[in-house]
Amino acid sequence: GDNVLYLAHRHGIDLEGACEASLACSTCHVYVNFECYDKLPEPEEREDDMLDMAPMLQENSRLGCQII
Ligand code: FES
Repeated sequence: GDNVLYLAHRHGIDLEGACEASLACSTCHVYVNFECYDKLPEPEEREDDMLDMAPMLQENSRLGCQII
């Protein structure tokens, strides 16, 4: 399916996504506006673990490849 990482690529947005959505990197790190953030399902543990390694983590950080 389409996640935010693939949508970004399709629209020419430079978001890395080094592991191709397999939750083995944090290069698809994005900030989600708070209104949308609250509507997303909670990140799974593996996403949280990877997010912990993302630089400049914020309250509204998610991994783009996990947002569907
Ligand atoms: Fe690697 Fe999203 S592309 S975790």
